Amino acid sequence: MIDLTRILLSTNITTYHSTPQLLSPASSSSSSHQSSLSSSFQEREREREREREMMGLIHILLSTITKFTTYHSTAPLCGIFLVFFTSITAFFLISIIIRRRNWQNAPPGPLGWPIIGYLPYLSERLHEDLFNLSKTYGPFFSLRMGQKPTIVVSSPEVAREMLKHKEGSFSSRTITEAVRCIAYDGTTLVFAPYSERWRLLRKILTTELFSSRAIDLLQPARQQQVHGLLKSFYTCSKSKTPVNIAESTFVVSTNLISNLVCSKSLFDNLELKEMVRDVFEAVAIPNLADLIPFLKILDPQGLKKRVSKVAQKMDNFFEKLIDERLEEKKKGIQINKNERLDLLDVFLDYKNKGKDECLKQFSRIDIKGMLVDMFMAGSDTTSSTIEWGMAEILKKPEVHRKILVEFEQVIGKNRFIEEADIHKLTYFQAAVKEIFRLHPAAPLLVPRRSNEACEVYGYHVPKHTIVFVNVWGIARDPKLWPEPLEFKPERFLESKMDVKGQDFEILPFGTGRRSCVGLPLGLRMVQYSLASLLHAFEWDFPIDTLEDMTEKVGITLQKAKVLIGIPKPRLLDSIYL
Ligand code: HEM
Repeated sequence: MIDLTRILLSTNITTYHSTPQLLSPASSSSSSHQSSLSSSFQEREREREREREMMGLIHILLSTITKFTTYHSTAPLCGIFLVFFTSITAFFLISIIIRRRNWQNAPPGPLGWPIIGYLPYLSERLHEDLFNLSKTYGPFFSLRMGQKPTIVVSSPEVAREMLKHKEGSFSSRTITEAVRCIAYDGTTLVFAPYSERWRLLRKILTTELFSSRAIDLLQPARQQQVHGLLKSFYTCSKSKTPVNIAESTFVVSTNLISNLVCSKSLFDNLELKEMVRDVFEAVAIPNLADLIPFLKILDPQGLKKRVSKVAQKMDNFFEKLIDERLEEKKKGIQINKNERLDLLDVFLDYKNKGKDECLKQFSRIDIKGMLVDMFMAGSDTTSSTIEWGMAEILKKPEVHRKILVEFEQVIGKNRFIEEADIHKLTYFQAAVKEIFRLHPAAPLLVPRRSNEACEVYGYHVPKHTIVFVNVWGIARDPKLWPEPLEFKPERFLESKMDVKGQDFEILPFGTGRRSCVGLPLGLRMVQYSLASLLHAFEWDFPIDTLEDMTEKVGITLQKAKVLIGIPKPRLLDSIYL
């Protein structure tokens, strides 16, 4: 049955293969509106054509069954075959009747099955599957993920149209069952629908925690964490103990986030590290119940149960953290010696006097939600980018050499790199952009959702459609990036392109009002940690782990073969001590 399904579907796909792409990347909005209408007509024609082909196939199938049953009319197996083939035929017939389009006036895209939609053809490497489909259906296509209408964006032009010109319609998030458990029913900043409340949360974070002044005030904590890492690697180098780059930088990132939120380095504690890992693992598993809503009540993979358990643990931990801070406040203990405020200070003391604000003060749930967001959004993203960066740079000796020459010219070997040096490292900064291009931590962004029904290029997009912006695919499009799979920092030396959300060819932090609020911190952490590791040590990783760039899909896109190696100091011993 599966084979037959595949045969029938491949008939569809071949028909599409021969069709021209829907949108040429250069098409302007108004002309594309007209052309999209005519291509919508062609699309319907193609669909009728496909239906005719399907009917032909079913006709053949039915006549085969008739011949078979006439010939073997007395065989006992015959009845079983008859029932079996009739069921299949009925299934296809019903499917054809139901599977007209993904929805009325939908953008082009592959047809799926009733209920399960296109799911049987998708793997866990969704970004790659969608990238491949975009080669057939163009940069703006539709499909059904289970029962959920889905739009996939695969070019800078379409990304600009959706996330800039029609930003108001695509500023909410897709929320999964796991997210509901972890992120307090999806009310946290990352997942809250675009609303007054979201605007207030975002404004407070931007002004109080991620302003340039606040980021500068956090610099001593970053320095302490990174120097601590270099010193511990030095000790490992002396005892020839291998170090794991992703794991060590994960501790640095999470400790930094915990300094941001409560001015403590919580992640030296193994239990907490494991708890966060458990949360990440549970949240990253795709859940059928998210896409086929009637399965929700059954929780067929037991994921809701699993996530609820880890979410409860995390909640207890955050409760204690808040209690501790309230106790310290009562006793008049001042946590920060400099003028820096951490997230708990800001949110516990927040009292809004303005009449028009939607929140007068924050509840415990609001505050715990902010803590979840910071740890989920800020830790793995940073550490996995650093690991990819090490692999890409060390795999290319000429790039590595150029980076070291620049370090020599700007810093020398008599001290560690400092954050203030980074802006002088032109080639290294270009290399970091190239890392973000090839390895965006969130290849489909944090999936967006349409907050309302709307029209894009003359097509209908229903309310609550899942929107995947395939930034991974856009950054590998040979029309935009010559030799897209090559790691070439040079491409950024001559160009003004940046990763901050203005250039739609490279969007590792997203763009617009829902872009990454932690960008100033994330970018600095990646640049500073990576530069420090390359400047302070020579690295010797097994060639196969370095060469193998297979991706592992988790909460972020990670390197499947982790980098584990023994560092060799490049600087004078006294600098590490
Ligand atoms: C290399 C580091 C990072 C990368 C690649 C990254 C990437 C992203 C992306 C792609 C989004 C979704 C953007 C969109 O939909 O347009 C996002 C959102 C977000 N990020 Fe980051 N991020 C990083 C670091 C951080 C850090 C350090 C924090 C905070 C400590 C953070 C907090 C957030 C939050 C709160 C949102 C949700 C914003 C909203 O919905 O309004 N991120 N990030």
